[in-house]
Amino acid sequence: MPHVIKNQQSSRIHIEPATHQDREQILRIEQESFSTPWTPKMFDAELDGNPFSHLYVARSLHDGCAGLERGEVVGYVCFWVVFEELRFMNLAVERSVRRQGVARELVRYASALGRERGAARAVLEVRASNEAARCLYEQAGFHHLAARAAYYTNPIEDAILMGMDLLEAASSE
Ligand SMILES: CC(C)(COP(=O)(O)OP(=O)(O)OC[C@H]1O[C@@H](n2cnc3c(N)ncnc32)[C@H](O)[C@@H]1OP(=O)(O)O)[C@@H](O)C(=O)NCCC(=O)NCCS
Repeated sequence: MPHVIKNQQSSRIHIEPATHQDREQILRIEQESFSTPWTPKMFDAELDGNPFSHLYVARSLHDGCAGLERGEVVGYVCFWVVFEELRFMNLAVERSVRRQGVARELVRYASALGRERGAARAVLEVRASNEAARCLYEQAGFHHLAARAAYYTNPIEDAILMGMDLLEAASSE
């Protein structure tokens, strides 16, 4: 059942929990987005096996937008809410609809849901060279916490650990 969150979703997309029927579309976006994509088993574990995990998809509300059909998955976010912490695990947007605010809305939605579930702060890791994601997170209110040397492989690269105080962010919205 879709969660109703006091959060402005745009008129172009709708955000709701992912199901197994979404798996193929999620995997296609995952594979075009990452050098080390999550496997089908990893997504299944998030959908079925992890009580802390939330996997949400953004669906297109219109036919014909960038060749996408109504209801098609245009992006997704996976995050864990573990007591007071919201941890972003994965986020990607279909290449043809990037730079239209889909990721911003997914991050906003996840943050609101995490807050509703009692999370007070959000954390994530991002590749040091991933300018698009770092800009997105900074714009959303995250700040640099630390660097983790050689955290990623393929290619080997540092991770930047970023964090945001969710309660402070809510009071300034
Ligand atoms: C990073 C990613 C999720 C952004 O998705 P998106 O829907 O295009 O992002 P949005 O349109 O919501 O952008 C929001 C803000 O993020 C920043 N941003 C997004 N893409 C950017 C880019 N290519 N270059 C610079 N800043 C960018 C901008 O500040 C943007 O705001 P603006 O358009 O008003 O300037 C998308 O590029 C993607 O799927 N990349 C591959 C997977 C990935 O790197 N995931 C993140 C893992 S940590």
